[in-house]
Amino acid sequence: MKTVIEPYRSRVVEPIRMTTRAERERFIKEAGYNPFLLKAEQVVIDLVTDSGVSALSTRQWSAMHGSDESFTGSRSFYTFRSAVQRLFGHAFVIPCHQGRAGEHLIARAVVRPGDVVFANTHFSTTRENLEEAGAEVRDLPVPEALDRSDPHPFKGNIDLARLEAGLAEAGGRVRMVILTVTDNSRGGQPVSMGNLHAAHELCRRFGVPLWLDAARFAENCYLVKLREPDYAARSPREIAREMFSLTDGVFMSLKKDALGNTGGLITLDDESWAEAIRVRLLSSEGIPTGGGLAGRDLEALAVALDEMLDEDYLSYRVASTRRLGEQLEAAGVPVVTPFGAHAIYVDGRAFCPHLSDEQLPAWSLSAALYVHAGVRTWETGNVMQGRRDPVTGAWTWPAMDLLRLAIPRRVYSQGHLDYAAEAVVELFEQRASVRGLRFVYRPPALAQFVATFEPV
Ligand code: F0G
Repeated sequence: MKTVIEPYRSRVVEPIRMTTRAERERFIKEAGYNPFLLKAEQVVIDLVTDSGVSALSTRQWSAMHGSDESFTGSRSFYTFRSAVQRLFGHAFVIPCHQGRAGEHLIARAVVRPGDVVFANTHFSTTRENLEEAGAEVRDLPVPEALDRSDPHPFKGNIDLARLEAGLAEAGGRVRMVILTVTDNSRGGQPVSMGNLHAAHELCRRFGVPLWLDAARFAENCYLVKLREPDYAARSPREIAREMFSLTDGVFMSLKKDALGNTGGLITLDDESWAEAIRVRLLSSEGIPTGGGLAGRDLEALAVALDEMLDEDYLSYRVASTRRLGEQLEAAGVPVVTPFGAHAIYVDGRAFCPHLSDEQLPAWSLSAALYVHAGVRTWETGNVMQGRRDPVTGAWTWPAMDLLRLAIPRRVYSQGHLDYAAEAVVELFEQRASVRGLRFVYRPPALAQFVATFEPV
């Protein structure tokens, strides 16, 4: 069959409030032209993130009803721990309330001023946490990752030559190497198993731990199955097990592929690191058998560690995202290709050539798309990654200024996504009407969450 269908059906529904253009013009102005600051009920189709917004399954709800909410040592923790150990294979399992909490714990417990950390690309919160702890943080993406339409199937790969040179040059200062799977900041691009094996070899040779930021590892594994010939006959679970066997540890937001409304995880083999992280956990997150999560969260997550690797689900997920991407591509909208699994990324500079970098093309496009059709998206570009020299005031802009349409898991139907595609295409046909924005308030870090803007 050519028609791709959702491999699940709905039993509980949530109404969507429709809005008028005049209302949306008022809402976005009140939100300081920051879509992140809109009220969710002002949004028709919410593609701002795929994080914490999954629909839970009947199996998850059923497990949640049977949770153990004891203060410590709850049965739900041991259910969760077994599910994690079966899949990841590391000795120690530390839950925490979300991904960045895990990053914060690692940064505070084991990173020292002057340490160096390499990654394909650090996600913004990872970078922030490591830099706050005094580390020098370097992104080493392959050059193909910087070219929006380069057809390389694994644009999430780390540049092995630069990694080897960096490891040799920084000597004992390298605290860890991180592979973000998939590389969210550069278009949701996957890392190949070949690249992971080679990075593993280099890390062994230099005696440096290799870690994964595994927020979207299931989607990464499915893209490996589709794109890396040696893995075509393997199941996503088998690929995941091999992936984790090459690592010293994993930190992970459980709000993405792991279908959680909240949750984070650190799992690792080094006992002294585990101990240092647990001590931190006690003073900030919670007790070691909860990490700030309720028993029912742990139950939902334990079920998800199974559901997230289901092949019918992953094949639908990849196909439905690709369908959205292809609709935009067919209309000439400049998109990042090949398509990843969790989102479609639009090139803001190519969409709005009439806007300069200081007029924040992808961000302005995000605001315009909201006004046009009530579709909320997110920028990963000039606002998120632009840096201003505190002395000269000069800007450094990132290599790509992207608008992200992130697709929540098991939430929207194909009809919803067709509506979003139509909205982007209509706006593209009248793209000269997208008005540029400039900062009114820009905080010192993580600007995308709180900054406000005004039309130029
Ligand atoms: N790592 C990656 C690759 C992420 O995409 C995120 C979050 C985090 C870490 C932090 O996890 O949100 O649970 O604290 N990404 C969200 C997004 C915010 O919309 O892409 P968190």
